[in-house]
Amino acid sequence: MKTKNLTLNVWRQRSKSDSGRFEKYVAKDVNEHMSFLEMLDVVNEELLEKGEEPIAFDHDCREGICGMCGLVINGYAHGPQERTTACQLHMRKVFELGWDELWIEPWRATSFPVIKDLAVDRSAFDRIMQAGGYISIRTGSPPDANEMPIGKHVADMAMDAAECIGCGACVAACPNASASLFTSAKVSHLGLLPQGQAEREDRVRKMVGQMDAEGFGSCTNHGECEKACPKGISIDWIARMNREFLKAMVTADNEVEERD
Ligand code: FES
Repeated sequence: MKTKNLTLNVWRQRSKSDSGRFEKYVAKDVNEHMSFLEMLDVVNEELLEKGEEPIAFDHDCREGICGMCGLVINGYAHGPQERTTACQLHMRKVFELGWDELWIEPWRATSFPVIKDLAVDRSAFDRIMQAGGYISIRTGSPPDANEMPIGKHVADMAMDAAECIGCGACVAACPNASASLFTSAKVSHLGLLPQGQAEREDRVRKMVGQMDAEGFGSCTNHGECEKACPKGISIDWIARMNREFLKAMVTADNEVEERD
């Protein structure tokens, strides 16, 4: 089993208003089977033993499912392994790359303010979802799943879009800090399914409106989001969202004209 000492430059920031800075730590005897977050756990245990403040970072499932983790490691959102969340990244990948010194930062985006150290506030994503990321349903009486047949192609496409875990790596990787990949995946997932048709136009208008209101940048087709996404969400969804948005805006304009 390979072990190594690593030099860590970790972004430490006491609060949103603190200006923040990198602080250097040595992670001793890191073994190749550790996950990246386990390595940080060990560093934190040592800090606690010394009576120092542990490094704050987000995590929950540690299985690549929940979307809570998010670190920029040597410039890569979620680290250097494609289609892998930071919690699923193992130190063997870091060893393979010959990295002895790591720079660990939070997601950088105005719309994701730092709460503390490596933890950022991603509630802007929640507000985008609240704006339209739902379907009308009478709760308490869900219909039988087989009552509404859905074509395989449509079901597969909806599932692809539904893979988005809302981690925010797309925003962190985008030079414009655009949330288009996230928003388009959510718009498309619901807009493709028959259950999502009732609010389809309203949904895309409101979700795109909220995305803009939160201060995220525009998409200019860099494609960094797709590359950083741990779930492989395609930028094709952004093109689809833009088409849906245009159609919805034209329909809304026509309705206003008809009323006038
Ligand atoms: S902690 Fe859940 S996806 Fe990483």
